[in-house]
Amino acid sequence: MLEVHYHGHACFELRGEEGSLIFDPFLRDNPQADMRPDAIEVDGILVSHGHSDHIGDAVEISRRTGAVIVAPYELAVYCRERGAKAHPMYIGGSNQFPFGWVKLVQATHGSSLEGRYLGVACGFVVRIGGRTVYYPGDTGLFGDMKLIGELYPLDLAFIPIGSTFTMDMDEAAKAVEFLRPRVAVPMHYNTFPVIQADPEEFARRLSSSPTQVVVMGFGESKKF
Ligand code: NI
Ligand code: MN
Repeated sequence: MLEVHYHGHACFELRGEEGSLIFDPFLRDNPQADMRPDAIEVDGILVSHGHSDHIGDAVEISRRTGAVIVAPYELAVYCRERGAKAHPMYIGGSNQFPFGWVKLVQATHGSSLEGRYLGVACGFVVRIGGRTVYYPGDTGLFGDMKLIGELYPLDLAFIPIGSTFTMDMDEAAKAVEFLRPRVAVPMHYNTFPVIQADPEEFARRLSSSPTQVVVMGFGESKKF
């Protein structure tokens, strides 16, 4: 069984029987976050790209807990240089970690921090708690989402809907059509004024889709 906790923005914590992981732990500087980084206890930290609203507090959490940061090579090296435990990977690569199986997939986005280039942005497909989950990170729509859905039949997909830096709602609805997950959870909206979006509108647009849209509140946990 998989338990998902939404910390707000693009930060989700996943717990299965075998362990736990967190995606893009942007907490301290996120006005919507429900927890501080010093309260996070996880086994793995998956970071999709170097932008500050994604790398967030990853290094601090890794240094305190010993959790391994899984990220594209340049970003993983950046974290390691700052004292984090890191496991560099790249798109197409997969690895079985004690807390779950992780594959890196493409994202159409950049990755830099404080002027330093940190490789390309990625998304993740993970298997944890008996479920297969797609976490796209920040991305625009791309046609190979169809391939991701075909290769890794998805129980759950997180979908950015906030526009400006990611897909807007029209493309987010198309992404769900391409991915065909059992459940879609919207993310990356309403943290800042430039990414305002109504998640209930996203759910309405997909009301006749075979995918069930579940809107999670910031700080909410659900079992999938
Ligand atoms: Ni970004
Ligand atoms: Mn972002």
